Amino acid sequence: MTSKKTIFSGIKPSGDLTIGNYIGAISQWVTMQDEYNCIFSVVDYHAITVKQNPTDLRRRILDITKIYLASGINSKKSIIFQQSAVPAHTELAWVLNCCGAYMADLKKMTQFKDKAGDKQDSVSVGLFDYPVLMAADIILYDTQIVPVGDDQKQHVELARDIAKRFNNQYGPVFTIPEAMVKKEGARIMSLNDPSKKMAKSDENPAGAIALLDEPEIARKKIMKAVTDSGSEIIYDQKNKPALANLLTIHSSLSGESIKSLEKKFTGKGYGDFKKELAEVVAVFLIDFQKKFNKISDVDAKKILEKGRKQATKIAEEKMGKVRGVVGVR
Ligand code: AMP
Ligand code: TRP
Repeated sequence: MTSKKTIFSGIKPSGDLTIGNYIGAISQWVTMQDEYNCIFSVVDYHAITVKQNPTDLRRRILDITKIYLASGINSKKSIIFQQSAVPAHTELAWVLNCCGAYMADLKKMTQFKDKAGDKQDSVSVGLFDYPVLMAADIILYDTQIVPVGDDQKQHVELARDIAKRFNNQYGPVFTIPEAMVKKEGARIMSLNDPSKKMAKSDENPAGAIALLDEPEIARKKIMKAVTDSGSEIIYDQKNKPALANLLTIHSSLSGESIKSLEKKFTGKGYGDFKKELAEVVAVFLIDFQKKFNKISDVDAKKILEKGRKQATKIAEEKMGKVRGVVGVR
């Protein structure tokens, strides 16, 4: 073992990944690979907490793997694997269900409340239990840091609580993890409605730009994005939330600071700014998709298999300890 800290993160294959996933999560992971032991998962058992078409799910698992690689996750530096290929995740989730997770915690989870809405009694138990599986993902690997978008902070907090409770009962088995959220770009909002997160499951595709969208379609989506009243290009989260979101997208993809964008567009209007942003997004997507298309399914599967072996080794060792302290096999 090296003295580097361990990070773990994952994305569920439940829809087409957006530039929100890239800016809020994946791009942050890429920069962490030299400094940390990195483990990145395609969390397919999280995806089935809502109904999935099996053929689409299988396709998306490979596509997310390729998206990780095209974004710059390097399988020589980082472990990339599919959650369901390492059964210790679901096994530990069961143990944590019994020894660490409380009903009251899960009932408080914002994501569950949002997703279940007024149907809390007819959604699957899996949707309710989702954060416990996520806690298992994280603590199996003695993860210290979990780089995620803002919306996942609450789940990481819960993973901390669960790990602490387990340790109190059985001794120091788990490392207590911490969330790491980017300052800028932690929450990219919908292009239609700046009060809603840009999400891969958005019913209205105009609000989200998928990483695999045709660049010309993405360009049109930016040109049609809602803007605020007024015409000045200034970053004002409170009074101009739609523009603040577009500025964040520009800055995250182009690398130009928001300050310098404000300066560049002094005296110009929303139309000029959007035209440039549309170009930035199109150029980004063309380059990204070129890299994505170079990776074959066979290559993606090979990388997942290598990751499965690496992850299994770590996870099984930890599960051995867990089984021991709990008193099962
Ligand atoms: P999900 O799409 O919910 O599976 O999220 C996968 C990762 O991407 C998590 O770390 C999220 O916090 C992050 N993420 C998802 N949507 C956004 C968004 N609109 N802005 C920033 N981060 C996001
Ligand atoms: N719940 C996360 C999301 O929706 C995905 C996820 C599952 C995850 N397991 C994880 C993220 C472990 C970080 C660490 O985005």
